[in-house]
Order: sequence, then structure tokens, then C-alpha cells
Amino acid sequence: MIISIASQKGGTGKTSSSLSIASGLADIFNKKVLLVDIDPQANSSKVLVKDYQKISKEDSICATILDRKPLPIHSTGIENLDIVPSHILLSNTDIELTTAKDHREGRLNRELEKVKDDYDFVIIDCPPTLSWLTINAFTASDHIIIVVAPGYFELDSLNQIGKTIKEVREYFHPDINLLGYLFVMSDPTINSRTSLKILRQTYTEKVFNTIIPRNTDLRDAHFNKQVIFRYNKEAKSSQAYKKLISELLERL
Ligand SMILES: Nc1ncnc2c1ncn2[C@@H]1O[C@H](COP(=O)(O)OP(=O)(O)O)[C@@H](O)[C@H]1O
Ligand SMILES: [Mg+2]
Repeated sequence: MIISIASQKGGTGKTSSSLSIASGLADIFNKKVLLVDIDPQANSSKVLVKDYQKISKEDSICATILDRKPLPIHSTGIENLDIVPSHILLSNTDIELTTAKDHREGRLNRELEKVKDDYDFVIIDCPPTLSWLTINAFTASDHIIIVVAPGYFELDSLNQIGKTIKEVREYFHPDINLLGYLFVMSDPTINSRTSLKILRQTYTEKVFNTIIPRNTDLRDAHFNKQVIFRYNKEAKSSQAYKKLISELLERL
């Protein structure tokens, strides 16, 4: 089961959600999980890979996306959780993929096919832009979760990502399923409440019942290179992500 965590904007909580869902599935729900970091910013890799600075381009997802080699899988400090780390040089790929003549949308898919049976779940942390990297992620996925933070521009960007999914369905992968919209960074402001209301009105049952509160523990956890469940099990965001994973497992 391969799930992309996406949004068409940066800073909306994709990486935090990818880390929390992947580590929660592994740590609390005893699933075997692979996290694939396909964002050149490599934020989830920096949290999960010890000595991340030592990871070379060849030992990162660049190997697969640029050189069509097998996925370099690394272990993490968490049992049952492996990672394919990203690399800053992945930011060059879009130019290369734009001119490539092979099935450039399917490079990740082809290599994931070979390892996906070793895992219960593969979670892909997507980049914030519509690019060949995102298309690679979607083409390899069974499901997509769209992360939405409060705000007008955040809601506005949903149209765009909807179009991307439609295009991927049309050209590359007809069976891809939009699993749901996840509302994150919720707080007691009118802006947040209004955003959630609009999201629920527009996308109705596609919006997960569980919402993730704005919670500084999450930021502190990642600052300390830890996932939230290891940093503070009692944190509001820990409890929310745990509830979300239960809801997710029910939806699948
Ligand atoms: N629920 C939350 N509460 C508080 N801060 C959050 C929450 N989710 C994410 N953040 C913070 O917001 C910033 C952007 O989140 P991140 O997950 O990196 O987003 P993205 O991957 O979409 O760019 C980070 O500093 C992160 O720690
Ligand atoms: Mg990110």
C-alpha cells in the first residue's frame, strides 16, 4: 500500500504528517513501513537519518530518479521504519526529466514495485510544487492524502492539486485514489474555523474527521531530530496523529 502525502504549497505540514504517520504506523501499530523522501529539501531525512550530512547523492533517491538504479534503503532509529533519503541535488532533476525521453513519470514506480511487498505501507513525502517529482510520487501511489493548513491561499491551491491528480489519472495511472483531505495546524481562530468549514462544505466526506491541532511540541520534536511519538507521547499532536492513523486504517 503506497500513500503520497501532498499539497501544492510549502509549509503546510506534509513533512510533519509524513513523519508522524510513518513512525506511528511502525511504532504504535506494528506495521512495516518505508518512508520515501522525494522533496529536495530533505526535511524528513534530516529527522530520521543519523549523520544525514554523510549521505551522498548516490545513496539518496537521486540514484533512482536520475540514474534509474534501485532505491537506496536506510534503516532509522525506529524499529519497523526504513527510509529512502532525499538530497538537495534532487532539485536539479526537473530540468533533466523534462528533456528525458523514457517513461520519466515512472522511475520511482518501477523501483518501488520491486520492494513494496517487503512493507505494509510506503509513505511518500512530496515536494511542494507540481513537478516531475510529484508526478513520479503520484504515479507510484495507490492513494493520496492532501494536507491542508488554514488560510485562503491554502484552500485556493486545492484546485490546482485536484487538476494534477486528474492529469496523472488521465495520462499515467488511472487507479490512483484521493484518500482524503487532512486539516492540520488547526487553532482557535476564526480563520482556522472558517477554513475548516469551507473545506468540509466543498469536499464533504473526503475530509478526515480527525484534525491536527497547531502544537509546538511537533516543531520541537523535529528540531530535536525526533518523531513526535518518541518526543512526547502525551502531546496533543501525538494523540491527534494516532487517532488519524486509526481513521486511516479504517478507510483503507
Ligand atoms: N500541527 C502543527 N503544529 C505546529 N507546527 C507545525 C504543525 N505541523 C507542522 N508544523 C511546523 O510548520 C512548519 C512546516 O511544516 P512541514 O511539516 O515542514 O511542512 P511542509 O513539509 O508542507 O513544508 C515546520 O516548522 C513544522 O514544524
Ligand atoms: Mg516538507
